[in-house]
Amino acid sequence: MRTDTPQPIRLADYRPPAFLVDEVNLTFDLQPNATRVKARMQVRRNGDHAEALRFNGERLKPISVAIDGRTLGEAERTIDGEFLVIPDAPDAFVLETEVEIDPENNKALDGLYMSGGRFCTQCEAEGFRKITFWPDRPDVLSRFTVRIEADKAFRHLLSNGNLVQSGDLPGGRRFAVWNDPFPKPCYLFALVGGELDVLEDKLVTMTGRTVDLRIYVDPGMAPRAAYAMDALKRSMTWDEEAFGREYDLDLFMIVAVRDFNFGAMENKGLNIFNSSLLLADPATATDMDFERIESVVAHEYFHNWTGDRITCRDWFQLCLKEGLTVFRDQSFSADMRGHAVQRIKDVKALRARQFAEDQGPLAHPVRPSSYLKIDNFYTATIYEKGAEVIRMLKTLIGPDAFRAGMDLYFERWDGHATTVEEFIRCFAEASGRDLTDFFAWYEQAGTPKVTLASRYDEAARALHLELTQATPPTPGQPTKRPLPIPVTVGLLDQDGRTQAFERDGKAIDETVIVLDGASAKITLTGVDRPPVVSALRGFSAPVRLESDAEPKDRYVLLAGDPDLFNRWEAGQELARALILARAEGRPDEVGEERYAEAVGRALSDQAAEPAFKALLLALPSEPDLALAMRPADPGAIHEAREALRERLAVHLQHELRRLHTGLQDLGEFSPDAAGAGRRALRNAALELLAANPRSEIAEVAAGHYAAAANMTDAMGGLNALMLIGGEPFEQGLTDFYERWKSEPLVIDKWFAVQARDPSETALGRVIGLTAHPAFDAKNPNRLRALVSTFANFNPARFHDPSGAGYRFLADQILAVDRYNPMIAARLIDALGGWRRYTPELGALMKAELQRIVSTEGLSKNVFELASRALA
Ligand code: PHE
Ligand code: ZN
Repeated sequence: MRTDTPQPIRLADYRPPAFLVDEVNLTFDLQPNATRVKARMQVRRNGDHAEALRFNGERLKPISVAIDGRTLGEAERTIDGEFLVIPDAPDAFVLETEVEIDPENNKALDGLYMSGGRFCTQCEAEGFRKITFWPDRPDVLSRFTVRIEADKAFRHLLSNGNLVQSGDLPGGRRFAVWNDPFPKPCYLFALVGGELDVLEDKLVTMTGRTVDLRIYVDPGMAPRAAYAMDALKRSMTWDEEAFGREYDLDLFMIVAVRDFNFGAMENKGLNIFNSSLLLADPATATDMDFERIESVVAHEYFHNWTGDRITCRDWFQLCLKEGLTVFRDQSFSADMRGHAVQRIKDVKALRARQFAEDQGPLAHPVRPSSYLKIDNFYTATIYEKGAEVIRMLKTLIGPDAFRAGMDLYFERWDGHATTVEEFIRCFAEASGRDLTDFFAWYEQAGTPKVTLASRYDEAARALHLELTQATPPTPGQPTKRPLPIPVTVGLLDQDGRTQAFERDGKAIDETVIVLDGASAKITLTGVDRPPVVSALRGFSAPVRLESDAEPKDRYVLLAGDPDLFNRWEAGQELARALILARAEGRPDEVGEERYAEAVGRALSDQAAEPAFKALLLALPSEPDLALAMRPADPGAIHEAREALRERLAVHLQHELRRLHTGLQDLGEFSPDAAGAGRRALRNAALELLAANPRSEIAEVAAGHYAAAANMTDAMGGLNALMLIGGEPFEQGLTDFYERWKSEPLVIDKWFAVQARDPSETALGRVIGLTAHPAFDAKNPNRLRALVSTFANFNPARFHDPSGAGYRFLADQILAVDRYNPMIAARLIDALGGWRRYTPELGALMKAELQRIVSTEGLSKNVFELASRALA
């Protein structure tokens, strides 16, 4: 047990910084075990106060501290493990410090560390304090000049901004000096030093400036950066067109590193990426990888305006940059790949991660009000729900007022650190609307449940709708208030044709009803025929909708809703109900047949895109189903879902085989949406065919794998073999490993496919794989591929009734916490939902959480999440 109970940081306690640093010169003498960092800072007292100077500093070995050229004695400053304190600092002065750090032994991967023999940094959220003494908070904005010196072997020496000077030094050393003209918080600082290959390109901006673009990668990997480069150029042009935002430096750099805690980082002018989100070619990356690379490259680039030029006042405002930037990258991806398909994928991810978070002990508002470790708040709620809130804002005030509000925000806050209140104020002013109630979306946690009841009055040609909302309590928020919820509604008739109606005397096909109280009654008139209601079109709000629609209505929507999101959703709802009924011991065989037939009809719809059909074919995921079953029984869910898959596979075998043969890639591979969509449908057909227990399916899957001309199809084949199991899977695994053992990103996939294996023997295999020579728990990608995939995407085996799955995860968390607390903490999520499971499983999960919190020497990160999960 921790003896020092860590103290939470609260939004209500925010105070402006006591000292500001306007200007800094940093000098790095890079050495793997003993890097020297000198900082020369122009410091200024902020406001009229007599407080001591307190700069953060962790894991630093202090060498010297001087003010205006005079070295301070021990009595004039104190240094403990967390702060440098100078009691009697002048009002304006030059502070010079020198410290020593050990990048090579930094396995937490924040601050300055080494990956693949190269120096690199990660400073968000609080890593800069592990590099030098600094007021490490986002509202201190400084102009940085950085001099880097290193052995010649570290050929590329990079930092933010523009290269001012570089050259050779005596003793086989080199130097480079960088200057970033834009004041920035220290979390956006970056430095890279090492031998790298570079892919170069140029982009002409909307005002005719030429920007140099460079992507730095491991030697030999430059061709694999071509897709990221293409995505970068498209992102830059899109931001000009969609938001009027132009890039502001003459150089934009991205560096890919293999050891990285998260996805990627938006450091000003020098983005650093996890190599898994940057490197791709058809042979080694799947279409899903290409798609993610496109969206993450865009995301980090978009941060240049929403994050870098306008940043957060404090970390409670994290959604100000993250939710907004996710909204921007989702809009970009929708323009690149199709709105409906993108929306479905975004909502699937939201439900899988954010809805689960909201239903558990770690539920928190989009803008939280207290934390122990900010690293723990890079969550689906802040990112994905944060994006949903902005999407609703746009729906509520309309696209023109939304754009005007964004313009006002950029104009008013450029160069500043600000708050969510100020952001929303821009939209209130631009739209002339009072957005006070809307703000509750930022402060209230939980997923609202909206119920919809409808009654058709044939004589009056009127449809009466009654909507109500209620949000279940979440930790620390026992009572909830109503939120303004935009519900987009359209009508079909019983034959699936769009039915016009009237609202406020106007004839329309679709309307947005804003439910802003606990309940509302709305009447739509001019409804000529008995309607089928298509509600919450496009998933217009992040809520759970429960409507009184009957299965027959859902079949009408599945067959013909012009809103493709709701067409897909109708299929999911039908499937969810059938699977849960079976899991609860009341299978509906007739309903299952009917569903299979309807899916068959949807598959033969010539007008629908393959990418959309691929989504239609996939049943709701097991974690998604677990959210809908109380208490959740993952074993029963798995069995029931497999039973429905088998029925579909048997019922649709001819269609599926036809799709599988007919959709073979002819000609050259293209990673674009159309090509990816065809491969997605073909692989989805194979995945479903694998549920058919007949033996020749193993041959089809093995043939698919053997003939694969790209990684998407190779993984499609291996995945099908995994589902079939037995000798063909073993052969596939051996072949795959031999072929790809020198490609770390591909071997991650090899670990992951075994971690997803739902068969009885999988847990033993996963435990065994932690001893495989290629397993390296210090590399976050490898650890996630095995451990996180198992815990989050293999519920049938993770929730083994013996508790062995939970024990395995807890062992991993405790082992990893000793060197990388951020990554260890991210694994706790999978145990967090213990109250939702059957009492037997819940007790075993809880026991592992208790074992974790009672462990000596736990990090703050893991302590915070494990103890909140138990509360
Ligand atoms: N700010 C990064 C992003 O774009 C995420 C990140 C957070 C990366 C913390 C590293 C560390 O979303
Ligand atoms: Zn981001």
